[in-house]
Amino acid sequence: MRSDKIRCQGKTIVFVPTMGFLHAGHLSLIREGKKYGDDIVVSIFVNPTQFGPGEDLETYPKNFEKDLELLQKEGVNAVFAPDAVEIYGEKFQTYVELEKLPNHLCGLSRPVFFKGVATVVTKLFNIVKPHVTIFGQKDYQQLTVIRQMVRDLNFDIKVVGAPTVRESDGLAMSSRNTYLTPEQRISALSLNKSLKKAQTLVENGLQDAAKIIDTAAKLIRSHPETEIDYITICDPETLDDMKTIDRPALMALAVKVGKARLIDNMILNP
Ligand code: PAJ
Repeated sequence: MRSDKIRCQGKTIVFVPTMGFLHAGHLSLIREGKKYGDDIVVSIFVNPTQFGPGEDLETYPKNFEKDLELLQKEGVNAVFAPDAVEIYGEKFQTYVELEKLPNHLCGLSRPVFFKGVATVVTKLFNIVKPHVTIFGQKDYQQLTVIRQMVRDLNFDIKVVGAPTVRESDGLAMSSRNTYLTPEQRISALSLNKSLKKAQTLVENGLQDAAKIIDTAAKLIRSHPETEIDYITICDPETLDDMKTIDRPALMALAVKVGKARLIDNMILNP
């Protein structure tokens, strides 16, 4: 109803989906969105279908009041914060699933994740009816999945990717950083450090992806309480592995630090 009215007024609806516990990374998406339209809608919904068994659905951090305060300060036009029953009801049985992109990176250790993301984002698109949507490059594979889904299913929506916002010491902002103890937070810096190290090696002429991955793994393992899920160098569009970095390549990694599973990535330019 609201969206139809706004569309009739000739306004451009920009949509930023989130799971809340907002930080400066989320707020940067809103600011980016303002370049594209005049009606900014933010959703806050911790989507149960993208969490696997044993993941942190139950403990995912929440602070709804503070989120609303931040969104008000940013001047967003509407906040959509449904509950799980409103989104999925009892008889829900239709899912959106991609065939290839989830068979890489995070999809391997989180088998239901992209099915859950694609499904909830489809539903949110149908509810919010945006012209433009903004996603963070921090979740690079998620952005790739959404771009592909929008093409495949003919959504009339422009997908914009926004750069990763970091703490001053390089740690990529994430709602899950709140799980880190001060010691673990220092270990978490090894994600970004290893990406920067990789970029330096590539700039100095190293093209062997396996060697770069090995160097990154050693750097990360030298920090306490780290457990590498994956470190991959791959094609930035198909996410297929690359052995030789003779063109821009995506280096992406996921590392458990204590109980926080953290991800980061960088485009390596030879
Ligand atoms: P959430 O993790 O809350 O992230 C919401 C959006 O913020 C995503 O587009 C994500 O890439 C972006 N984001 C997170 N940290 C960022 C950072 N440090 N810099 C820039 N952008 C950042 O991603 C999700 O929620 C969910 O999967 C969702 C898309 C809402 C579907 O449930």
